[in-house]
Amino acid sequence: MSGLISISPSLPTTERYLLLEEQVKALVYGEEDLIANLSNIMSALKYGMNYFWVGIYTVAGDQLILGPFQGPVACTRILKGRGVCGACWERNQTIIVGDVDKFPGHIACSSSTKSEIVLPVRNKEGEVAFVLDVDSTNLHDFDAEDQKGLEKIVTIIESIL
Ligand code: SME
Repeated sequence: MSGLISISPSLPTTERYLLLEEQVKALVYGEEDLIANLSNIMSALKYGMNYFWVGIYTVAGDQLILGPFQGPVACTRILKGRGVCGACWERNQTIIVGDVDKFPGHIACSSSTKSEIVLPVRNKEGEVAFVLDVDSTNLHDFDAEDQKGLEKIVTIIESIL
């Protein structure tokens, strides 16, 4: 298993995501436990990309429950349709929010979060089983390149569910 995750911030974004993808694939190789894999993936994302907060919420009944994450403590339960995470689940699509103060119903787990991207993670039936939430302390920190890169990570997560 690989240890240190180091992805130079000076590399172009697409290259950073490619390296991240390789590292995530290597991390989960040969390990079957989902919590162990998700935990390591969150760490790889946090330390590889230097996000402020990254975590995964699990769909459980009518709410999302906090799962493995890296960063400050966060809200543990989010109802369907609430906040960016709940909206991502309800719409079954990735949501990029450039300014969280302008997103109606945004749930401020941390007042430091200024922008975020939330992606659905689907099970084999195509239903949302988890959402991946990535937060930044800068406004407008996520764009289509981040979406593309993170969707590759989501594909890896979907393959190990
Ligand atoms: N930002 C989320 C809440 C989760 S925390 O940011 C970790 C939202 O509005 O759904």
